Amino acid sequence: MIELRNVNKIYGKGDGAVHALKDVNITVHDGKFTAILGKSGSGKSTLMNIIGALDSPTSGEVFADGKCLTALSQNELAAYRNKTTGFVFQSFYLEPTFTVLENVAMPLIIAGMKRKEREERARAVLEKLGLGDKIKKRASELSGGQKQRVSIARALVHEPSLVLADEPTGNLDSKNGSEVMALLREIADSGKSVVLVTHNHADAACADEVIFLKDGVAAMRGPLLPGEDPYGG
Ligand SMILES: Nc1ncnc2c1ncn2[C@@H]1O[C@H](COP(=O)(O)OP(=O)(O)OP(=O)(O)O)[C@@H](O)[C@H]1O
Ligand SMILES: [Mg+2]
Repeated sequence: MIELRNVNKIYGKGDGAVHALKDVNITVHDGKFTAILGKSGSGKSTLMNIIGALDSPTSGEVFADGKCLTALSQNELAAYRNKTTGFVFQSFYLEPTFTVLENVAMPLIIAGMKRKEREERARAVLEKLGLGDKIKKRASELSGGQKQRVSIARALVHEPSLVLADEPTGNLDSKNGSEVMALLREIADSGKSVVLVTHNHADAACADEVIFLKDGVAAMRGPLLPGEDPYGG
């Protein structure tokens, strides 16, 4: 469980300062699919980066299973993040000239694993996601939907307990987008916590819980109802 208490994030100083998160109090529950929903500039990526320990708040505290992350050093925070968290981004960030297998095995280098074991683990995850026949392809040879599924495999290969995805369907057509959403749902159903950043109501409707963000102010709520307009019409 991840808890944010009175979290503020301010970028910059003085007249140009941007108050991106304002007294945010939210909880990400274990094994749940949580969507962060809000318009562009509302603070979604900032919030996701703080939940995933990629960034620190300006004030307030973050707890992961009762441990205070805001008290950790940068090195300790990186170690925590490498162990517990997997990230998925809109633009995939695959190494285009590397094979699919090499891309997925990459986080295990940081984990200090030997090559043979890295490749076995990467292969197993790719097979599980239905990408077993793509392992020798270069990342640049894949379709957008395939690239995103490979990047999800890479986010899962070190067996994190938390998977964070920032607009993962943003560069995909609706069919591939739906497949990626179904995959994230499956990952949550397998017991991992999934946090999805989206401005898309339909994607947020796949989630168990929704953090609704407006101008840096967050409200937690249950699942969206079909056809409901969370922005209030
Ligand atoms: N590194 C930064 N330096 C300065 N301001 C920033 C930085 N990152 C974000 N901001 C500002 O903080 C606010 C929230 O940004 P954030 O990227 O979290 O929004 P978002 O909801 O993810 O938007 P989008 O849907 O466009 O990705 C915005 O006003 C943005 O301009
Ligand atoms: Mg964003």
